[in-house]
Amino acid sequence: MTSRIILFTGKGGVGKTTTAAGTATLAARSGRRTLVVSTDAAHSLGDALGMPLGAEPTEVEERLWVHQVDAQRRFERSWGEIQGYLMSVLDAAGVDPITAEELTVVPGAEEVLALLELRMHALSGEWDVIVVDCGPTAETLRLLALPEALGWYMNRVFGVQRRVVKALRPVLTRAAGVPMPEDSVFDAVERLHSDLEQVQQILTEKESTVRLVLTPEAVVVAEARRSLTTLSLYGYRVDGVIANRVFPEGDADAWRQAWVDSQRRVLDEVRQSFAEVPIWVSTYSSGEPVGADGLAAFCREAYDGADPLAVPDGEGPMTITRTETGAELRIALPFAQRQDVDLARHGDELVVTVGSYRRLLALPTALSRHSVTGARVEDGALRVRFRFEQEGRA
Ligand SMILES: Nc1ncnc2c1ncn2[C@@H]1O[C@H](COP(=O)(O)OP(=O)(O)O)[C@@H](O)[C@H]1O
Ligand SMILES: [Mg+2]
Repeated sequence: MTSRIILFTGKGGVGKTTTAAGTATLAARSGRRTLVVSTDAAHSLGDALGMPLGAEPTEVEERLWVHQVDAQRRFERSWGEIQGYLMSVLDAAGVDPITAEELTVVPGAEEVLALLELRMHALSGEWDVIVVDCGPTAETLRLLALPEALGWYMNRVFGVQRRVVKALRPVLTRAAGVPMPEDSVFDAVERLHSDLEQVQQILTEKESTVRLVLTPEAVVVAEARRSLTTLSLYGYRVDGVIANRVFPEGDADAWRQAWVDSQRRVLDEVRQSFAEVPIWVSTYSSGEPVGADGLAAFCREAYDGADPLAVPDGEGPMTITRTETGAELRIALPFAQRQDVDLARHGDELVVTVGSYRRLLALPTALSRHSVTGARVEDGALRVRFRFEQEGRA
């Protein structure tokens, strides 16, 4: 059974936790076994739902469970081995132990662990719906790019190193005094790699989508547009935008009327920018929407009769179509202009760079024996043309 997975992301404070928790409550109340997971270090699910949460999944009400990933504890459990090795290397190199400890806190460990947790829940078969309350956009993008980037790194660095180390371990240990990693370290790294690959597979399935939360302010919308481009680059589907904190219209004073007018202008822009996906509008309430009842009511109003769990149809951001001479790879990159996109091919990999984000795309076997004959960016998509090369031909 595949769980319906919905990730909520957006700029800090726009209402990610509120809408994630509200959507999960609606899901549970419609009969689905639902879990909300938070990957944000600023844990506020407990505050939103109005109850204290521990490190283990907690039942909030019938069918509604919450899990705040305790990154620190998980870190110690699963990264202990790798960290142990790094420490011993630094120790041998004469770095004092306290500094060594700081150095070996692998950046992004929180994210890695949250992803692993998500994988475990997705594979458990226990959940119909998993809602992920993500951190601020930049972190989410890093999180979602991670499985592929880490996989690449691990293949290159650890793959080669393992072979070399096997042969040289006795010599090197004696000569340099640097301990060589034990096989168990490599095993741990390999396990991590395959687990993360699986995470990516789960998150790019049809049943997994990302929802962008924004407030109708120019700066926030600009960031949301960039997120849409980057999410598409990595192959994730965005299935909706929630425009939150919209001031209700009607007998307003001059101050509020100015906000209403300004928000209306930005909302028009949002509707044009995100024309492909539904835009749900939620009003600025007079108080914080908290507690399961408050959150459910808040989100029910925002979704306005739409099914918050509907799986969007249509193709994902990446498609491959056959042509007479080969194939065409299409990656949707909404808003991207020609000058923002850079493309290179390295063996079986296509390196696509958009702004400051890069994807190392392993070409499907069907394409690896093709040569790239051209590429263009237009109408919000990158199209790469491939020509099939006959075996034996230059
Ligand atoms: N539409 C709204 N009306 C009133 N308060 C809101 C609304 N949306 C969010 N809030 C409040 O704003 C604060 C930040 O929301 P939160 O969902 O935690 O944002 P994020 O997770 O994006 O940082 C919370 O106190 C929340 O209750
Ligand atoms: Mg939050």
